[in-house]
Order: sequence, then C-alpha cells, then structure tokens
Amino acid sequence: MSASTEGFDEADDGGRTLTSAESGALERAAEAALRPKSLADFVGQEVVREQLSLVLDAAKGRGRAPEHMLLSGPPGLGKTTLAMIIATELSVPLRITSGPAVQHAGDLAAILSALEEGEVLFIDEIHRLARPAEEMLYIAMEDFRVDVVVGKGVGATSIPLELPPFTVVGATTRAGLLPAPLRDRFGFTGHLDYYRAEELHRVVTRSAGQLAVEIEDEAAGEISSRSRGTPRIANRLLRRVRDWAQVRGDGRLDLDAARRALDVYEVDARGLDRLDRAVISALCKRFAGGPVGLSTLAVSVGEETETVETVVEPYLVREGFLTRTPRGRIATPLAWSHLGLAAPEPAQGATPPLGRF
Ligand SMILES: Nc1ncnc2c1ncn2[C@@H]1O[C@H](COP(=O)(O)OP(=O)(O)OP(=O)(O)O)[C@@H](O)[C@H]1O
Ligand SMILES: [Mg+2]
Repeated sequence: MSASTEGFDEADDGGRTLTSAESGALERAAEAALRPKSLADFVGQEVVREQLSLVLDAAKGRGRAPEHMLLSGPPGLGKTTLAMIIATELSVPLRITSGPAVQHAGDLAAILSALEEGEVLFIDEIHRLARPAEEMLYIAMEDFRVDVVVGKGVGATSIPLELPPFTVVGATTRAGLLPAPLRDRFGFTGHLDYYRAEELHRVVTRSAGQLAVEIEDEAAGEISSRSRGTPRIANRLLRRVRDWAQVRGDGRLDLDAARRALDVYEVDARGLDRLDRAVISALCKRFAGGPVGLSTLAVSVGEETETVETVVEPYLVREGFLTRTPRGRIATPLAWSHLGLAAPEPAQGATPPLGRF
C-alpha cells in the first residue's frame, strides 16, 4: 500500500459506510457501548491475549509498571479496546492521545510531565507522530526523562525532568512505518489479525447480549460471514439487522431477517459491497477477466484510482477474487463464480496469465 492513505477520511472511501473497517465520529458512541472491558471478555486473538495476560500478571505480581507495548494490525480489530483493557487490568488511569494530535514536541512534553506513577499512556496512530516528538518519546520511554526547554534563542537551556515509571501503549495500523529505534523500545508487540468466522460469531452473540436483543445462532453466523474478519464491521451489520427486524420484521433476529437486511444494504454473502462487485464485474464482463490496468479499471467503475487501489482491492486480493500482476489486474476463478459466470477457457497454446499459479 502506498503512503497516500495517510490522512484517509470517510470522504475518500467511495462513500462506504457499512463495509468500511474505519469508524466515523458518530459511530464512536455505539462502539464504546460494545467494547469488552476485560481480557476475559475480549473474544478471539488467543495468542495476543495469552501474551498480554502474562505481561500484565507478571507486572502486577512485581508491583511494577509493565514494559511498553505496541499493538499493531488493521483497523477495527481491537487495538483501542485492548489499550483500555490494559489500563483496566492494571487498575490505573489511561491517558489517551494520538500521533496526529501531537503537533509539537512541547505538546508531548506537557503530556509526559503530567503522568503519574504507573499510568498508561495510549498513543493511537503512533506512526504519525512528528519527528521531534518521536525523538522525545524514545528518551522518555527508555530513561523516563524529558528535556524541557526553558527560554528562547541563545539563552535557552534544557532542563531534564525525571518522570515516574509509566507504560506507553502504542497502536498502529502501519507497523512498517515505525522507525526502528521507536519500535525497539517496546518490550512487547501484539499483532492482531483478522478474526475467524467462529470468533466473529462470538463477537456478534456477545454484542447482541450487550444490546439486549436476542439473536438466533444462524443469524449470528450469517452476519459474521459477511463481516470481513472485522469485529467493527460485525457490530455495525448487527445494528443494521436489528433495525430491519424492528422496522420490517417482527423484532426477531433470525436468519431470514439477517439475510434480508444485509441484502437491503447490498452486503453479499462474502461481505462484498456494491463497489467491490462493480470492480470484479467490470473486470470480468468488460475486460474478459483482464489483465487490465488499474486506472482503466477505476474509470470504468467511476471511482478514483486511489480508492480502488487502497479501499477496494486489499479485501478482494486478500479473499482471492483478484490478483495484481505487472501487466494489470486479473480476475480469479473465484471472481467469476461469485458473479455466477463461467470463467473463460484459456486459449489454446496461450501462456497462462501471470499470478494465477
Ligand atoms: N476481540 C473483540 N471482542 C469483542 N469486540 C471487539 C473485539 N475487538 C474489537 N471489538 C469491537 O470492535 C470495535 C472496534 O474495535 P477498536 O476500536 O478497538 O478497533 P481498533 O483496532 O482500535 O481500530 P482503529 O485502527 O480504527 O483504531 C469496538 O466496538 C469493539 O467493541
Ligand atoms: Mg483504535
């Protein structure tokens, strides 16, 4: 992925709401209500959960602040949720900031110098910290010290200020963008991966309980299979199915309600939305399955090249609907069958397209 997804906001995502892994401002309150509060309540991600519980229990046993922790992984998989759980499990306050919110090193100095012993400082989107703030953070994390500059110009002096032990929890969707010196200062990195269907099933069932609605098992299964491995999307689809059941149905969240609601919202059985289908449909029907260049493909669905590349394609590639090759985009047999079309037979003697083997 290119660095051009920096500053990504909802206006850039092809107008998606339901299947976007990012969350909008209005959604935050709905999300907060569904956040698990303890590690035991956090569904799935067994590996990270076990690693984290060891780190936390050991620190608690020693009565010391645990080492700094980095949480990485795609949007909507639970990084912020885990940061909150870490503070709760340690019974300490959580201070929250983010890379883009820290414009100057002075902003970070103010945050750091206000920290009390044992507190957790959560820095979301830590890969977006400005360089001077990043450098100040290295020192604070390693030596528990911040150099405060007093005065201006030639008379300026830097006064070292001791900090009490604290724990930085950093979250990033782009671990690869973190400079090595910063990455090295974390004692533990938890990588969150997409959830398996049965894990999402548990997320949906749990969330329905939080929302005080009853959901049938098949309905939870249907929602989880359309949720792209992402709890945020699963919770969102659950809320839309609940709306449908309330307004068009009889209030019951059963399989029929789930299917009909998700059909209304054009989220198909594999979690593809209108734009995803438009892309594979153009690729198969107009370009005979490719290869076709990205910009030609984007124009044919009336979208920006960047939207197709950074918003639509990653999921299609991950799920095996499309492959990227040096000669262009190619539809896989899965794309053809998903559209209910027969994949064309390769011409006699033709070389197979790149990327299909
Ligand atoms: N393991 C989980 N169990 C139950 N619910 C979860 C889990 N992980 C995430 N969720 C739910 O998914 C939603 C999104 O999670 P969260 O905000 O923690 O994601 P994130 O990784 O911080 O995303 P972003 O990168 O966009 O900040 C929350 O409402 C949370 O309740
Ligand atoms: Mg988050």
